Amino acid sequence: MGIRIDRAIGHMATISAVLLIGVAGSARATGIAQIIHARQRHFHELGKTAHSLRDQIGRSHPNWLVVTADANRIDRLASALPSWFPAGSGKGHGVDTRARTAIWIHPQEFARFARLILRRAQNLRQAVGSRDLGAARLRARKLGQSCDSCHRRFRGSSSLWHPW
Ligand code: HEC
Repeated sequence: MGIRIDRAIGHMATISAVLLIGVAGSARATGIAQIIHARQRHFHELGKTAHSLRDQIGRSHPNWLVVTADANRIDRLASALPSWFPAGSGKGHGVDTRARTAIWIHPQEFARFARLILRRAQNLRQAVGSRDLGAARLRARKLGQSCDSCHRRFRGSSSLWHPW
């Protein structure tokens, strides 16, 4: 009888340990999903803002209040960009992401692309601050090139199709 109770308690301990590990594992997965979804939300905001800015400065009489707000927001997002990529938030967690593993294998190279977009965002802000339409158009084009170059190097296709 005593032995049976001991065994039963032993089983219960094992079961609760397994449960605990399961809970910790899924909490981690939830955390990663949140990080990846937040990152994609930030990028969509960046994309929408850049689009709005380009649309305004394409006009002969842009609304400089809108352009200024957009340029400031792009600058703020660009300076936060590196924090959207904590280690362990890449592919392979069952959450769809286009962030390539190369980001964490070559962190210094990734940081260079992140610094480039920040510099370009600051230059754009400066041109917008002086209400120089020609310069703002040039700076916006340069900014766009910094998006494209990082995407070519570090943004892959959907991980649902290519989990590597
Ligand atoms: C330093 C690298 C880097 C720079 C610079 C960068 N992006 Fe991205 N971008 C990424 C990565 C990586 C993803 C994939 C994120 C994910 O799926 O988790 C992404 C995703 C996006 C998405 C989400 C939709 C999609 O196709 O995945 C948009 C929109 C976007 N970027 C727009 C921009 C714009 C606009 C700029 C420039 C103003 C920019 N990005 C600059 C790396 C960058």
